[in-house]
Amino acid sequence: MRLTRRTLLGGLAAASLPIGRAAAAGPGGRQRWLKAGLDRSDGLAGFAAAKGILFGTEVRDEVLTADPALADVVTEDAALVVPGLELKWPALRPSADRYDFAAADRLLQFTETAGLGLRGHTLVWHEVIPDWLKREAEAGRLKQRVDEHIARVVGHYAGKMHSWDVANEVLEPRHGQPGGLRNSMFLKALGPGYIEAAFRTAAKADPGALLCINEYDLEYDHPQHESRRQAMLALLTDLVSRGVPVHALGIQAHLEVGKYRFDPGLLRAFLAKVTKLGLQIFITELDVNDRALPPDEIARDRAVAAHYGEFLAAALAEPAVTTVLTWGLSDKYSWLSTVSEQRRADGRPTRGLPYDENLIRKPAWQAIADAFAKAPARS
Ligand code: XIL
Repeated sequence: MRLTRRTLLGGLAAASLPIGRAAAAGPGGRQRWLKAGLDRSDGLAGFAAAKGILFGTEVRDEVLTADPALADVVTEDAALVVPGLELKWPALRPSADRYDFAAADRLLQFTETAGLGLRGHTLVWHEVIPDWLKREAEAGRLKQRVDEHIARVVGHYAGKMHSWDVANEVLEPRHGQPGGLRNSMFLKALGPGYIEAAFRTAAKADPGALLCINEYDLEYDHPQHESRRQAMLALLTDLVSRGVPVHALGIQAHLEVGKYRFDPGLLRAFLAKVTKLGLQIFITELDVNDRALPPDEIARDRAVAAHYGEFLAAALAEPAVTTVLTWGLSDKYSWLSTVSEQRRADGRPTRGLPYDENLIRKPAWQAIADAFAKAPARS
């Protein structure tokens, strides 16, 4: 059956089970979402699920509402969804004493109706935070605000999430702080223990939740990526050795073709070390910026697809990589074309996702499908 948003809403909705606490958070949830993947046998989630891998993508509530064709593509290709904006502080908490779960709850409803999983992104991040929180930090109330935020938000979705990005982008070795930690407002106000505290607060609010630390620039053969890999290994080793409830490393994988050398062996060695710590690995925000390439679209599409292929071949060789999400499915809504630091200098739209602006599959879609087809099966 071709699964579309309409058939899902009409048919599967009636058949799908309500998401219960144990089922969603524990292995039962994973099995259900893998099953959702298998049901999408000609979508990317189907190729992934055949190997025991969950495939998903970033979406935004307003895009799903405004563009039913995109919603159809999501339900055909993904077993998992991560909200692009709806679980970030400005969306969830317009002021210190007001929470607004409406948009995120709509996304949860969408995923539950379609039988998909939902990832939580993100609880502690130095970007996309409201001005009121910066003022609260200056007034000495950051710890209180962070603690109550994590408890409230994780508690609101307890038992329903695939996983939570508890800490996002906490490293920046160039800042010269011990452990390579980013000199963020959190580090300045709360000291290095804020990371551990965030994980412990999240675990208390949802004891069954799969808790992740999510990071970028871990992928290439480049000194800045190497220093981040080293800092991440040291941080994870410390957290795990002290029993902090961290369960997975999220590797953002915002790739860029033609910028740095990609060395599959280097990535695999890093993944093996993370695996030895007993952690799962998620590829959380995969896309391929093409701004270093000349304008020709056919050549760009070919190079982007090849880069997806070589990255995923290396990443998926490690069985601890259980989950892969792209940061969007269509170029039409990609941050690579909307956020100024990511855009091409020639002003042309980037073509870094599996579908083009008209929701036509590109070589990147096939490269991702092929990478799943070639991956070793997870147990
Ligand atoms: C981005 C969104 O895609 C943009 O729409 C928003 O303006 C900024 O955030 N790393 C992350 C994501 O962890 O949350 C970011 O998402 C992309 C980089």
